[in-house]
Amino acid sequence: MSLLSAPSAAAAAVSASPIHAPTVRYANAADDAFIEELQAIAFGPGRFARTAFRIRERFPIDKSLSLVAEVDGTPCGSVWMTPISIGGINGWMLGPLATHPNFRKLGAGKLLAREVTKRALARGDGQFVMLVGDRDYYCPLGWEPTTLGAIQFPGPVDPTRVLVYADDKSLATTLSGSIAAFQR
Ligand SMILES: CC(C)(COP(=O)(O)OP(=O)(O)OC[C@H]1O[C@@H](n2cnc3c(N)ncnc32)[C@H](O)[C@@H]1OP(=O)(O)O)[C@@H](O)C(=O)NCCC(=O)NCCS
Repeated sequence: MSLLSAPSAAAAAVSASPIHAPTVRYANAADDAFIEELQAIAFGPGRFARTAFRIRERFPIDKSLSLVAEVDGTPCGSVWMTPISIGGINGWMLGPLATHPNFRKLGAGKLLAREVTKRALARGDGQFVMLVGDRDYYCPLGWEPTTLGAIQFPGPVDPTRVLVYADDKSLATTLSGSIAAFQR
């Protein structure tokens, strides 16, 4: 069922019941229209002006790390990963992360962030997952503030929202430099 056709009564029933736990799976080409529509709903037309969008223009997302969340088989959320490097260290930029408004507060967003990070770092060729987001949402999941201004973006960004997840806990404060291509 497309999100556009998802009846609000069904969505309300989903929200009311804790048994409708979100699950995640890898995205495929058939999800492209859903993801595009979801990002338009979640971020609006201003999404194309965001600094993160500029990074994704320069360094394409890794579609093999694109995840979709579902509730009872209905797609409800999405996350992308962009391979990057900072100061010669490989990692990923997480985003956009979005959950459809009819399916929020079910845990889909946190599940997507956690799961995509686990799967990326398990590949072993990158050391961190950086994002620009709210501390209140991401820090309880293990993301940490970075040194203000140490990571340079190709556009304006609030440095207090630049967060890093890494197994090496020193990386959040030592990562420094411009965002560059993932070193193959
Ligand atoms: C942010 C977003 C992905 C959360 O999706 P979700 O599936 O509802 O998230 P979860 O169910 O895992 O977590 C919901 C909890 O996080 C809280 N939360 C949501 N956004 C938050 C934010 N920006 N800062 C702090 N807490 C936030 C909710 O209030 C809720 O709290 P509760 O569990 O105490 O009720 C979703 O609201 C969304 O798509 N927003 C628009 C796009 C966006 O801002 N994306 C993130 C860009 S960094």
